[in-house]
Amino acid sequence: MVQFTLPRNSKVTKGKHHAAPADAKTVKTFKVYRYDPETGANPRWDTYDVAVDQCGPMVLDAILHIKNTMDPTLAFRRSCREGVCGSCAMNIGGRNTLACTHAWADTPGEVVQISPLPHMPVVKDLVPDLTLFFAQYSSIEPWLQTDTPTPQREWTQAPADRARLDGLYECILCACCSTSCPSYWWNGDKYLGPAALLQAYRWLVDSRDESTGDRLDGLEDPFKLYRCHTIMNCAQVCPKGLNPAKAIAGIKRMLVERVV
Ligand code: SF4
Ligand code: SF4
Ligand code: FES
Repeated sequence: MVQFTLPRNSKVTKGKHHAAPADAKTVKTFKVYRYDPETGANPRWDTYDVAVDQCGPMVLDAILHIKNTMDPTLAFRRSCREGVCGSCAMNIGGRNTLACTHAWADTPGEVVQISPLPHMPVVKDLVPDLTLFFAQYSSIEPWLQTDTPTPQREWTQAPADRARLDGLYECILCACCSTSCPSYWWNGDKYLGPAALLQAYRWLVDSRDESTGDRLDGLEDPFKLYRCHTIMNCAQVCPKGLNPAKAIAGIKRMLVERVV
């Protein structure tokens, strides 16, 4: 499943090895993708023998420990460190997930291999360029659209209407799903991908939204929507347990039902 988008004519070379400190009691090796486009050098795999008895249980704890005590040049994104912001998404042991909620002890094999989300341009090290991903999110107009005057107080919904947003509103836009989707790898410039489509469905089924027809018009396109071939990688990797493929099927169903 995992492939990289590498600079043209480049290959990942063997990098530096960082030994554990002398007082380490338990050591775990982390193999980390390193790339700095400003140097013109090829990407490389650096290895770090981390004293895991001196850091917390999650992969994010380990790479923070690397940055703080072994190698301050390592670049990665993180903010909330509790699975809420979506910024620490990366590929760990061959699977896209959140570094802050994934325990290094749960990664199979002797070595924990960490690389950026696959098939995205790399800004530096573990930082992917998500410009296109967020432009696609923006294109689905992710806000409530209505001609009804905005209530002065809370805009209530019937419990059943509110329940239709469950499994959708929890998305943290981490991009784990889109960057594990083969259709998105192959047609990422035209196919919106599972994350943006799940978000689109979230507004389509919102009982308060009055732009359903326009939203469906915008999605009825052979590439934006219909490149999903139900491969299901998206649902397998989502760290929030969501099912973008089901949401995509829901959009297709809405399009069929409005034609009939
Ligand atoms: S089900 Fe659709 S969106 Fe999900 S991984 Fe497969 S092709 Fe991509
Ligand atoms: S659906 Fe899941 S994997 Fe995809 S962006 Fe949202 S939270 Fe991340
Ligand atoms: S740091 Fe926010 S989701 Fe991991």
